[in-house]
Amino acid sequence: MFRADTDTLVRLLPFPELIKALAAAFVAGANVPLRHSHIIESGTDTGTSLLMPAWDAEGYYGVKIVNIFPGNRAKGLPGLHSTYTLFDARTGAPLALLDGDVITSRRTAAAAALGASYLARPDATRLVVVGAGRVGGLVGPAMAAVRELDDIAVWDIDPDASQRCAQRWRESGLPARAVEQLEPAVREADIVSCATLASQPIIKPEWLAAGSHLDLIGSFTPAMAEAEPACFAQADVWVDTEEALMKSGDLLNAIAAGRWRADALIGNLTQLCRGQIKGRSNDQQRTIFKAVGTALEDLGAAKLAYLGLKNA
Ligand SMILES: NC(=O)c1ccc[n+]([C@@H]2O[C@H](COP(=O)([O-])OP(=O)(O)OC[C@H]3O[C@@H](n4cnc5c(N)ncnc54)[C@H](O)[C@@H]3O)[C@@H](O)[C@H]2O)c1
Repeated sequence: MFRADTDTLVRLLPFPELIKALAAAFVAGANVPLRHSHIIESGTDTGTSLLMPAWDAEGYYGVKIVNIFPGNRAKGLPGLHSTYTLFDARTGAPLALLDGDVITSRRTAAAAALGASYLARPDATRLVVVGAGRVGGLVGPAMAAVRELDDIAVWDIDPDASQRCAQRWRESGLPARAVEQLEPAVREADIVSCATLASQPIIKPEWLAAGSHLDLIGSFTPAMAEAEPACFAQADVWVDTEEALMKSGDLLNAIAAGRWRADALIGNLTQLCRGQIKGRSNDQQRTIFKAVGTALEDLGAAKLAYLGLKNA
């Protein structure tokens, strides 16, 4: 069985290849059962363990296990640990044990870029990233794999985090800058991508330019939201999977406020990748892509890493 350390795994998942691998995974499809969630109690310690399986017709089966233990902070440990195990779906034999955090953060940024490849204007050059954490910190390079960006602004509620992120991106050759004021950066942007833990909306509709693309990564529970409900009025909306309609506060708030209706959803990433529906159709249209993630993306990323390890 292969094992890859964090740096090796990052090298095995470059964004141009990872975005292609995810597109292929959406075209091929996979079995993705509902994730399991278990409360793990041991003495006075309590955590949540999420199990996310997926398997495909090509012979791959993988399970991501995400353990969230809020008490770890007091112990000086990360609150979240995650592993991905890839198996041969025909025999059950283990093939690779991978860092689940790297798989999650890279496949999430890659899925956002895959969405933008259909939905952002082809001539989009200006990106704003809101939230400079594990996922947001990868959105700049991921989007740069699908559009010729000449300006990447990054804003975080923690200004040091945006400075560090912009510095890292500049060092890797990207035209990045940290901004202290979000509004002017969003007003100028062709693509706005949010990857925060916000529970109150950050993005206001009047900031979004005609023809802009709004990418929403963060909100995965009804209590979380990154965009005001009115952002959805007069926008065309796509999701990664329909699960977003049940989980995301962004969509649920917009529906509750009467600013958007679920039956106005244009479609999902599978339909876009299979060419069953159209992406952006003109330069003035405002587009929105809301993602909550799927184990199909984890499987697509893990397969790419495994093939890289096997063929090395
Ligand atoms: N859609 C998906 O497939 C998917 C996958 C993984 C993570 N996520 C979600 O993406 C979000 C980011 O994940 P992460 O791993 O990067 O988290 P993280 O904790 O590493 O980073 C979050 C960043 O957002 C910033 N932030 C928090 N609240 C903010 C606010 N109100 N305004 C601006 N910045 C704020 C923090 O300072 C931090 O820098 C989370 O909500 C996570 O659940 C989504």
